[in-house]
Amino acid sequence: MMNIADEIKGRCNIVDVIGRLVPLKKAGAHYKGLCPFHNEKTPSFTVSEEKQRFICYGCGAAGDVISFVQRTQNLSFLEAAEKLAEEYGIEWNRGAFDTESKRSAYYEINREAATFFYRAFRSARNPALSYMAGRGLDDAVLKKFGVGYADGEWDSLYRHFTDKGVDEKLLLELGLVSSSKGRCYDKYRNRVMFPIINTRGKVVGFGGRVLDDALPKYLNSSDSRIFKKKDNLYALHVTRQEIAKEDCAILCEGYMDVISLYRHGVRNVTASLGTALTAEQAAMLKRYTENAVLAYDSDQAGRAAAERGMDILRDAGCKVRVLRMTGAKDPDEYVKAYGREAFLELAARAPSLTEYKLAAAREHCDLSTTDGSLAFLKRAAAVLRDLSPVEADVYIRKLADEAHVSEGAIRREVWGADGARASAPVRAPSAVRRRADGGDESAGGTMLERIFIRLMLLSGAYIDRIKPYEKAFSTPSAFKIYSALTALCADDGEVDMRKLEDALDGPDRALLFDIREKVQLADKDEAVFAECVKTLRLSALTDREREIVRMLTVANDEENKERVDTLTRELIGIQREIKEVKGR
Ligand code: UTP
Ligand code: MN
Repeated sequence: MMNIADEIKGRCNIVDVIGRLVPLKKAGAHYKGLCPFHNEKTPSFTVSEEKQRFICYGCGAAGDVISFVQRTQNLSFLEAAEKLAEEYGIEWNRGAFDTESKRSAYYEINREAATFFYRAFRSARNPALSYMAGRGLDDAVLKKFGVGYADGEWDSLYRHFTDKGVDEKLLLELGLVSSSKGRCYDKYRNRVMFPIINTRGKVVGFGGRVLDDALPKYLNSSDSRIFKKKDNLYALHVTRQEIAKEDCAILCEGYMDVISLYRHGVRNVTASLGTALTAEQAAMLKRYTENAVLAYDSDQAGRAAAERGMDILRDAGCKVRVLRMTGAKDPDEYVKAYGREAFLELAARAPSLTEYKLAAAREHCDLSTTDGSLAFLKRAAAVLRDLSPVEADVYIRKLADEAHVSEGAIRREVWGADGARASAPVRAPSAVRRRADGGDESAGGTMLERIFIRLMLLSGAYIDRIKPYEKAFSTPSAFKIYSALTALCADDGEVDMRKLEDALDGPDRALLFDIREKVQLADKDEAVFAECVKTLRLSALTDREREIVRMLTVANDEENKERVDTLTRELIGIQREIKEVKGR
């Protein structure tokens, strides 16, 4: 039996697929073009129509049509294969994979059910509509999320489908109906219905809320052929663009939190739907952004869920912050009571994962006693052990202040006696390679700022050369020194050191002295400067790369081929540039 990969390779011509992105010219038995995977001026990228493979004699990249799509569009093997299969109309009904087309009967039934509930919700006077209106939601937002109503009858939905000749087996499999003693009845009765729609726009399941205080409050679809609870985040089909654009997702617990925040203009939201956040959900979120703000309920259960969720997000590679509310049980209540601005303020001030954990470690510790300080220190050390030395350093300085202990003592607590080395002063240029984006603030100024200032002190010529990168001065003191240097630089490029010192005071002047004393460039100033510039360029390029990948993810979901192609071309260009800069 032929597998799907062979079938795809047999059916879509690699020359066409690659040709859409890379201009190819026929050269003998092959096609040639400029390699999309490295930077070159003469073509060494070759596509063989006969073998249906590509190979680049410049960088060694090689593969088939699926791996080409994988690499250029940042997709998994399955995603790339599925995409090509769809584009080329290849029926994917062999092998072990469940294809979109095979699942389409289920999708269709769910869509029809969603429409059925939606119509009932829109029909004159029904209790769900007044319930939702009572919760402050307007028509536009209810429509946006496809909210519906399951009436109080035992079998409205069941009859609707069986009248159309739909097999009840399918309804049972999807969990739309249940059966008892051989009779089927609707699973959802007298509930507000929230369709769960995946990022491809397919209705995969439902949540239904009671209209009063009855229990269970929510009924949800159980897992089925088309729905795996652990793989879905609520409302991502509506909010992922906003999430990608804001480069941040606010992650809540419930349906109502998402809808209510959205209604109040906070649109980069999604929800893990009551379950503990899964690694799959975290990975999914990360395709749209690496920044997550956990906004779980303020009760004990919500806090516990947030604590599990933050580690899962961190392990998925996300930067996590944790929002805590007072005066409201959940984001829905909060935003209704205090408004959008107040909620955004909370989100903006939400502590990072580390800050959150350190605050938790501090709880119940009396820092005015030695025992209390030591207990706190032990717990704090356990938190900091998860971080890299550079990341930990910032917190160690704060902790030393707070607990009245020396930084060295804390370092020993975190990494043991050897680990104290982790803080040994580093010299340029290797230091520049560490986070030069402002992450590693030392006695003042980032490593990059300190080196730039040192260079400008060394020779006025650097002042002009550094000007294009003045955005790199993000610490206030470093920026003041930079500004003073620029202002005082005479036409001949000389700076009067006396005047410079006079122009600065307090911490700014202290930083200047500190840099003069500690930052040594030996005779390597040109090399150090080049490395700084390289670091800055790389960080700008990788930022842009990440941004394009996020947009590409959205465009892929939307099956917007034109945009996928444009973005892919840009991505290839950026990745080339990154290679080029790195190679220098
Ligand atoms: P909440 O009880 O916080 O619900 O549960 P909520 O979204 O704030 O709803 P309102 O404001 O009371 O209407 C959070 C999420 O946990 C899941 C649902 O996904 C809910 O949105 N849940 C809750 C269930 O699945 N079943 C339940 O019985 C309760
Ligand atoms: Mn609620």
